[in-house]
Amino acid sequence: MHNMKIESPSTQDSTPIVFSAEMIAEINSVIAMFPEGKSKSAIIRILHIVQTHYRWTSVPAMNAVAEILNIQPIEVYEVASFYTMFHLNPVGNYVFEVCRTGPCMIVGSDDIIAYIEEKLNVKVGGTTADGMFTLKTAECLGACGYAPVLQCQYKFHEHLTKEKVDEIIEAYRTASFVN
Ligand code: FES
Repeated sequence: MHNMKIESPSTQDSTPIVFSAEMIAEINSVIAMFPEGKSKSAIIRILHIVQTHYRWTSVPAMNAVAEILNIQPIEVYEVASFYTMFHLNPVGNYVFEVCRTGPCMIVGSDDIIAYIEEKLNVKVGGTTADGMFTLKTAECLGACGYAPVLQCQYKFHEHLTKEKVDEIIEAYRTASFVN
């Protein structure tokens, strides 16, 4: 059984980040959706904007979000580190997020995770040497009836078997999947 693994933020680079005017405008339009004094509720939407732009959510980026929302950085870290969809470290071109919650575990998600680790020569949380794949685990992806399941970008791969994993990896390697 895989141990629960909480991703720690990268400490690689603490250089402050300055968001582009375009990003700031997008962030402000999200903040405007919330009542005055409740802008903290925009954190998740803003983190999605940040991650779409940078492909991951660095500490300097989270600090910049905190500054915009006029809250403490820890308040942003708490949200970003709670949701596995936010990447606190740089990721590869394709991020495999394998569900490890009960229903998926009962039908073999641990074996699937171990197989992907072996096949890609990475541990959970790691990225392949060629920068192509990152392997993460996730809590219930809402597709329990199709377990075991992995999500890559916005695409779901269901009823996973080792053979299917082989096909999926090959398809991404040869860019047969469009995300
Ligand atoms: S438990 Fe895996 S999708 Fe719900």
